[in-house]
Amino acid sequence: MGLRDRAPYDGALIAICGLDGSGKTTQVKLLAESLSAVASVSVFRPVTDAFRNDPTVTAYLDGTMPADQRHDMVAELALLAAADGFRQMRTAILPRLQAGDVVLCDRYIYSAFARTLARGFEDQDWLSRLYRYMPVPDLTLFLDIPPEKALERIRSRGSAPRWEEADPAKTAAARAAFLEQPWGRQDTYRIIDAERSVDELAAAVRQVVTETLRLPIDAGTAASPR
Ligand SMILES: Nc1ncnc2c1ncn2[C@@H]1O[C@H](COP(=O)(O)OP(=O)(O)OP(=O)(O)O)[C@@H](O)[C@H]1O
Ligand SMILES: [Mg+2]
Repeated sequence: MGLRDRAPYDGALIAICGLDGSGKTTQVKLLAESLSAVASVSVFRPVTDAFRNDPTVTAYLDGTMPADQRHDMVAELALLAAADGFRQMRTAILPRLQAGDVVLCDRYIYSAFARTLARGFEDQDWLSRLYRYMPVPDLTLFLDIPPEKALERIRSRGSAPRWEEADPAKTAAARAAFLEQPWGRQDTYRIIDAERSVDELAAAVRQVVTETLRLPIDAGTAASPR
């Protein structure tokens, strides 16, 4: 019936989640480099451009939509993001998992879930049901960092934070959701302290991946980002 009921795959699905600016893309890149010594690795960055480039979605995310219309769009955004995620899973991610790849997802459904709740949407049950047929990753890493530090990292990248990223109430609510996991706690969901250097965090990520998935990554040979 859903993607989740498909035949088991040979590969492994690792999701990296966290607030915007928490360091996901940096860590996904480093983890992919480390893993490529021992596995075939694919990297995906949900959501796809089909979602991102939708003019109405762009107007919401960029803050050009009138503020009094934003709230009405929250459920619609969740539906569009979920549809985009299901399609990407079916057409792009599952084939790589079935081919035996270790698939790294830079964000996953939990990011959409936390973000939707942070936008003031309170119907958690509806959200849980919306994502019910997406595969639960073999490992999810939540890179935990205080919102103000994530904002600093966004600015350090030279990016202007988007209106939601600069809203402390929204980022605090998103962090709380990531920590509390209202979608249902899973043993495979791990909270990692991301308030440390790139290299220290990369080592912690490698350690969890090695322990959980029994992938023998040699921490000593991992590429340094610099
Ligand atoms: N551990 C770290 N310590 C300090 N700076 C970091 C760390 N990790 C990443 N950065 C820097 O912070 C900025 C944001 O990192 P990155 O782009 O990886 O975050 P992200 O979570 O992917 O952001 P987004 O959600 O916007 O995609 C970058 O400039 C990056 O070089
Ligand atoms: Mg990123």
